[in-house]
Amino acid sequence: MCGITGYVGTEDGIPIVQETLRNLEYRGYDSAGVAVNDGDVAVYKQAGQVEDLTVPATSAASCAIGHTRWSTHGEPTDDNAHPHTDCSGRIAVVHNGIIDNYDDLRAELSDRHTFTSDTDTEVVPHLLEEELTPDATLQEAFERVLERLEGSYALAATARGHEGIVGARQDSPLVVGHADGGHFLASDVPAFVEYTRDVTYLEDGDVVHLTDDDVSVFSDGRPVQRDRRTVEWDAQAAEKGGYDHYMLKEIHEQPQALRQALSGRIDELGGDVELDLSLPPEFVESVEEIQIVACGTSYHASLYAKELLERYADVRVTTSIASEYEFSGGRDPWSTLVVAVTQSGETADTLGALRRANAAGARTLAVTNTVGSTVTRETDETVYIRAGPEIGVAATKTFASQVVTLTLLSVWFGRRRGSLDSETAAEVLSGLQRVPGAVQQVLDQDARVRDVAREYADEEAFFFVGRDLGRPVALEGALKLKEISYDHAEGFAAGELKHGPLALVTPETAVIAVLTDGGAPEKTLKAVKEVDSRGASVLGVSSADDAEKYLDTMLSVPEVGVAEPVVANVYLQLFAYHVADLKDRAIDKPRNLAKSVTVE
Ligand code: G6P
Repeated sequence: MCGITGYVGTEDGIPIVQETLRNLEYRGYDSAGVAVNDGDVAVYKQAGQVEDLTVPATSAASCAIGHTRWSTHGEPTDDNAHPHTDCSGRIAVVHNGIIDNYDDLRAELSDRHTFTSDTDTEVVPHLLEEELTPDATLQEAFERVLERLEGSYALAATARGHEGIVGARQDSPLVVGHADGGHFLASDVPAFVEYTRDVTYLEDGDVVHLTDDDVSVFSDGRPVQRDRRTVEWDAQAAEKGGYDHYMLKEIHEQPQALRQALSGRIDELGGDVELDLSLPPEFVESVEEIQIVACGTSYHASLYAKELLERYADVRVTTSIASEYEFSGGRDPWSTLVVAVTQSGETADTLGALRRANAAGARTLAVTNTVGSTVTRETDETVYIRAGPEIGVAATKTFASQVVTLTLLSVWFGRRRGSLDSETAAEVLSGLQRVPGAVQQVLDQDARVRDVAREYADEEAFFFVGRDLGRPVALEGALKLKEISYDHAEGFAAGELKHGPLALVTPETAVIAVLTDGGAPEKTLKAVKEVDSRGASVLGVSSADDAEKYLDTMLSVPEVGVAEPVVANVYLQLFAYHVADLKDRAIDKPRNLAKSVTVE
């Protein structure tokens, strides 16, 4: 995830775009850049934070675009920072999203154009260079380029000798701001809310042309009218995109994060996955054990992955809490792949486990969110989950993105080990592609979850139960609730309830049951009946309508196969959030906890 921004008006564009970039820095902060157009185009960009970006203090340009980057293709370097330019430097482009077919486009263009970055974005200015002939307008040329692109994008471009900024949106947000004496374009309203609250949200497929006195929106080449709205919140709330907390914002970002995790990686027809891994085929076929190391939420995502890897790739998988790996890890390194799952890529316990695996001589792979993090430098291979920056201490969107990415990894292994046929793989992949939409359906129930949270908030303790793929989600649901509400919450395999925890169940406690496909709902229901007869209130997250009669409250989960528990988890995130919010807890910074724990 990145932030893009643009301004065209009557004022000096540089300080304004710098300010809008500072406001968007929560969307990415590994590099930043600005391009100004005062008849000619000049670009200033570098790795590092927005405040480190060196630009002239003033300029004569009243048209500028800007970018703050969260790397997906290419390390955070000066060359990979946006804006990207064509060979002549007359065109500048900023982009948020992923161009899926950039490999093919780059191969096609590379005999006529000089590429200076490793990014997917750079194909766009070079394509625009070809289309921007002397008799073409910037908008016409830009529309022809868009026809060539596959993937997700919010784009903005400006060019020498052409007035204003053109922009386009496909599966990545883009919004126009209408101010006195000028117009803004940005990934999100917070960028410019201190200048104007008068906005137009663009829709997928829209192309926009902004000048200082006009905004024209086009769809399929024809002018369209999009509603103008007034945003209600102020600049301070805007830092969180209008949400009260980063956590809530990040919960709501999950559909987009998941689309990014899947983008360009699925070959549904062939029933296969492309992950850009260079593990030798003979190793993939012969590996005897996969050892996953992780902490906290990443550990719960690993438990989910273990089930899928064993199922699809027919390989023995062990999961270790990373801090425990030092007592048992490092065995049989010649036939083992060690996978470190870590959002930040900096967790000391996980790095410690990885170093033990490396010292033993095992092959290693990182599954992380953070390009250039320590874990990527210390493993043989890396797969990114592409969730975008997560600021709330309690991990939310990165759990969903980890599970989906690890599901892709399971299919990747299964296909290459001959243990998963293409039809079954295609079925799994088609289910995965429905997950972002299903998550959106759950998010649309946010107000109802708040009502449910109000009903349950005063319970003495919360027990989360699930089986099979529902178990890691039960553990994660309990972790989320205890982290941010400080309530006593525990997660169990539902079958274990009767072997001890049942002693804690009273009419003053609540049981939350994961009753979805992939989570053996009929077996978990047995535990529900046990607690029901002890008077506990039972909240079920379920895709089975017939479960309702055993539950005090049911939240319905859309049907998407093995990924259903991940969708159910979104209810549990919202539940934890609202219980904590009703208790006025410090949700984004819970007591005693840190986002990235870099000490053992
Ligand atoms: C901390 C955070 C958790 C996170 C864990 C692992 O404890 O508070 O939310 O799950 O670290 O972090 P990682 O970056 O390795 O996934």
